[in-house]
Amino acid sequence: MCGIVGYVGDRKVAEVLTKGLSSLEYRGYDSSGVALLADGQTKVYKAEGKLQNLKDLLATKEDEIKTANVGIGHIRWATHGVPNETNAHPHTSNSGKLAIVHNGIIENFKELREELEKRGSIFKSQTDTEVIAHLIAQEYKKINNLQEAVRVATAQLEGAYALCIIHQDVPNTIIATRRNAPLLIGLGEGENFAASDVPAIIEYTKKAVYLDDNQLAVLTPNSVKIFDKDNNPVAVKPEMLPWEPIALSKMGYKHFMLKEINEQPDVMRNFLSGKLYSADEPIKLEEVKLDKAKLKDLNRIQVVACGTSLHAAMVGKYVIEELCEIPVDVEASSEYIYRKTVTDEHTLVIGVSQSGETADTLTAVKQSKARGSHILIITNRPDSAMAREADSLVPVNAGIEVSVAATKSYVAQLMAFYALAIHLAEIKESADKEYLKEIKNELLLLPQKIELLLTKTDKIQKCSRMYSSSKNFIFIARGINYATALEGALKLKEISYINATGYPAGELKHGPIAMLDETLPVLSIMMTGKVYEKILSNAQESKARNARMIALTDSTDEKLDDLFDFVLNVPHVHEMVSPIMAIVPLQLLAYYIAEFLGKDVDQPRNLAKSVTVE
Ligand code: F6R
Repeated sequence: MCGIVGYVGDRKVAEVLTKGLSSLEYRGYDSSGVALLADGQTKVYKAEGKLQNLKDLLATKEDEIKTANVGIGHIRWATHGVPNETNAHPHTSNSGKLAIVHNGIIENFKELREELEKRGSIFKSQTDTEVIAHLIAQEYKKINNLQEAVRVATAQLEGAYALCIIHQDVPNTIIATRRNAPLLIGLGEGENFAASDVPAIIEYTKKAVYLDDNQLAVLTPNSVKIFDKDNNPVAVKPEMLPWEPIALSKMGYKHFMLKEINEQPDVMRNFLSGKLYSADEPIKLEEVKLDKAKLKDLNRIQVVACGTSLHAAMVGKYVIEELCEIPVDVEASSEYIYRKTVTDEHTLVIGVSQSGETADTLTAVKQSKARGSHILIITNRPDSAMAREADSLVPVNAGIEVSVAATKSYVAQLMAFYALAIHLAEIKESADKEYLKEIKNELLLLPQKIELLLTKTDKIQKCSRMYSSSKNFIFIARGINYATALEGALKLKEISYINATGYPAGELKHGPIAMLDETLPVLSIMMTGKVYEKILSNAQESKARNARMIALTDSTDEKLDDLFDFVLNVPHVHEMVSPIMAIVPLQLLAYYIAEFLGKDVDQPRNLAKSVTVE
């Protein structure tokens, strides 16, 4: 994981780098560092902990760095070696003249390290990255050409890397290269940039080139040259980035998470635009390249995803099986990739990922592609590595999600699954037309209903305060909302660190009920429909064990007030689309509890938004 950035030009280099890093904090935030070429010397500054610590350090060094016109920076999510100052990047060669920043993992670092040590490299850290610094430095000593040294050294690496490299004997220059980790080059006037992701450079330029695997770029203030792995020049073909800097502002909200929760109605409208205007019309999903004949040829669907995206996939399974008569399996990508799966050209494999970079899901998708499956990708990043594997690409268009806890991207993924299921059902003619019309109508009405919910959060805030001292939390649901229970629990545990678990309500009596007592809140997700009465009975079982009772419901039944200590009401919706409605109060509950406890809502401990390691 981690984020990297590089800058060459006339601006205040440290400022460009730290600003860039702050927009890459979603990739990690346990330590950070920069290396600058100033007064003919490579100068390195690093700090453990949040990026602010590095900013504070740099503020005391203004005199030392004011002449810098080249620099590279890094924000870390530790894989090899604890998060401390020594293990923070940039890493340097013995002489300290060469400095590098790295995102990725080098799998053969142990063998390389042993070799390099024998040849005189002195290691300071426990990281895999430091081997790259020494390897390039040793090659440079032999051939005295930095670009060639990087090319020869990276050819010896196994694993994933995006790298920026500077050397004090090669002024005004950054070398950038990548394999299986993202890196783009931003093109400016008299200045150039390199970064793991668009937000780091968008304030300065909208013109960029995405490097391909094994390509190498040489950046100076007035030129960018790109080469392939055999050192042949490659034409620089810039593209315009469709990003607005405003997307990165909190827009007056205290946290990005709250802003992103509130954006959800617009995200839903945005997704539907161009696809569905009226329930009487078929849904338009031209991105899906599956016709009637191909659908007939499919005998199963496998969905691979992680975390929140996995929960969206669970709802997707329910909807597709309900409408399309195709069996659907949903599996955590990390499990899927290490077993023998029955996947072939008759399987549709759907990869779901907000970032499009999650390593486990990317591997799962690549494996299935190699077995001849049609690959459909649902992602918020149509420019990502996963998107490039797609035969059918469904972008969810949620806009950049900064908060580590996924909210609006989840709702957008759910919208994509509804659209996909309806689209497939319309091609296959596998569902009753009136039923499909009802669901389409509900989808069109949902944004407004959620808007209404978002204007009345007092009761959710009160509930959050009341239950914020709980050490444990149980969420129960049945049917299509089982995934909502899992997602509600995940939101709460990841940002408040309360031990929260989601169960299918019917499973409570098979073990978990033993934990219930008067200290434990049980939140029952009771959306009206097929299983409403069933879950009501399950809630009663909890009441009989003295649990603290919370309901989340679109029912207006006043009797619920007798059974529950707290009833969170939401506007009534059709059961089939109820996961979209039901998740919003749970996102808010998690948010307000974490906020009330004073937790770091947007950057919870130990996490990173883009999980690019297996
Ligand atoms: C939870 C969360 C994570 C991600 C997971 C997969 O709020 O954000 O569980 O859902 O790491 O990430 P993507 O969707 O980028 O593949």
